[in-house]
Amino acid sequence: IERLLEKKDLDGKRVLITAGPTREYLDPVRFISNRSSGKMGFALAEEAYKRGAKVTLVSGPVNIQTYADIEIVNVETAYEMYEEVKSIKDKYDILIFSAAVADFKPKNFRESKIKKEQEQELQIELQKNPDILKYAGETKKDWQIVVGFSAETENLIENSKKKLYEKNADLIVANNVLQEGAGFNVDTNIVTLISKEKVLELPKLSKEEVAGRIFDFIVDYLCRR
Ligand code: CTP
Ligand code: CA
Repeated sequence: IERLLEKKDLDGKRVLITAGPTREYLDPVRFISNRSSGKMGFALAEEAYKRGAKVTLVSGPVNIQTYADIEIVNVETAYEMYEEVKSIKDKYDILIFSAAVADFKPKNFRESKIKKEQEQELQIELQKNPDILKYAGETKKDWQIVVGFSAETENLIENSKKKLYEKNADLIVANNVLQEGAGFNVDTNIVTLISKEKVLELPKLSKEEVAGRIFDFIVDYLCRR
């Protein structure tokens, strides 16, 4: 009965979500990564699925189980995530980029393990990874809506609006990652939802509740356009 009472307002929609961290390898056994747990992305996937969508998650390495009906494509590096999104993105209506993609990767990958004896000091040079959200925004089709996240430590609204415009996104989910109960590796989040027309500040909520509010915002946005 509970299932029957749930909203099915994403019935027939195809949703693509990126989630989790990426790993950028220095050598075969070492990488640079970040503290993302993937919880927000998986909460979004489950919310979309419950509302009737067909969902694909392109996920970096995480420790989360989900419904068998949610398709998961596992990737490690930002470049792999980019290649995967690029090849499948046009099959989807709603694209959500919640992954904490590493902005940079080591410039030179060492084919064999770096040995400490050969180095007194070690410099690691980094180069930029492709911006997956920006690519999806720039190549967006008429039927698609593109949603990005924005992790900031200052000037939340201003910096996030800049991302909205520069990446040609429809919506940005902005979070101040320095706030207690927001961002990496916690079960709650404090976000502000931003479109070109609206700014909606939300209180501290569980990541499941945040996922619900994000899809409410998306459905409202779809109805208006
Ligand atoms: N993003 C992405 N590919 C990247 C970097 C970021 O798809 N190589 C996406 C993230 O998934 C998020 C959005 O871009 O949806 C914003 O990420 P964020 O780290 O907040 O901003 P950046 O644009 O990377 O800029 P900066 O880290 O300098 O603030
Ligand atoms: Ca970044």
